Amino acid sequence: MVAIALMVLPPRFVAAITAIRLHQSRRDLKEALREALGRDVALVEPGPVPPPELIAATSLMSKSDLQLKSQKHVYLAHSYRSAAWILNMARAAGLTFREGMSIFELGCGEGRLISHLRALPRARLVASDVRADTIKWCRNSLPGIEFHVNELEPPVAFLESNSVDLAIAQSVFTHIPLAWQRAWLEETARVIRPGGIFWCTIIGQHHIDVMLDKDARQILEETGEFELDGKDPRSSYSTQLIGSWDVFQTEPVVRREFGRYFEIANYQKNPAGPDVLVMRVPPLG
Ligand SMILES: C[S@@+](CC[C@H](N)C(=O)[O-])C[C@H]1O[C@@H](n2cnc3c(N)ncnc32)[C@H](O)[C@@H]1O
Repeated sequence: MVAIALMVLPPRFVAAITAIRLHQSRRDLKEALREALGRDVALVEPGPVPPPELIAATSLMSKSDLQLKSQKHVYLAHSYRSAAWILNMARAAGLTFREGMSIFELGCGEGRLISHLRALPRARLVASDVRADTIKWCRNSLPGIEFHVNELEPPVAFLESNSVDLAIAQSVFTHIPLAWQRAWLEETARVIRPGGIFWCTIIGQHHIDVMLDKDARQILEETGEFELDGKDPRSSYSTQLIGSWDVFQTEPVVRREFGRYFEIANYQKNPAGPDVLVMRVPPLG
């Protein structure tokens, strides 16, 4: 709704709205950090907005979204809001934020989320992606974060077992083919310490309604799983561009598969976006 309004309104109104949204989202992140740490910390300089070709390969449902999504205020407002969302949900699931904690983002794209987490005092921040082009851009643009290229299949050998307090995968398991999903869940569970949290999005009803036709929805209903590859015209624009996959699962299958490796602390359904799972590796004892 907001995206449509921004496309039809005169440019000066759009500029005013996006500036207000940016201000609000920065305030949301500051508040989330204060709640997490119990004191105020300064936000960090977010770094440059990535070039349009990287944004196009990462997060576009359709090609026409590119102009809006590559505007600085829009790009930053989304990223501040997502970072605040992750911190708030991880805290609500019981994660204790402390100096020197360790955070891993799988499928970091252009690092828009983890870049903000540099505000956490002395945190070890590690991020990886299968795309070498985006990791090269991240290394050149976002100091203070360890970036790695990983393979399409695990492991993430750069991380020791039980070493991560919080793992993040925003819009990543929605692109990992089902044949590799269990291996990635097992690998993510390996690196998170007992009591640590895994925050992850999965495709929810909104994208099922928007992307799938009747036949596809019937297969999803019957089998619990459905996958589009990048050659399929129903797949998202970014998926087509990089030859990836869009992955759909029903709630019972999500609970069964993710529940093999994690306690599901929160399964948040979002009417206008992806669903969110907040999961915990059971504490020892
Ligand atoms: C939709 S983008 C999201 C990027 C980022 N998480 C964000 O929210 O801005 C999905 C990202 O996951 C990456 N990806 C897909 N499969 C992956 C895998 N098996 N391992 C690591 N990254 C993967 C893609 O290359 C892409 O950058």
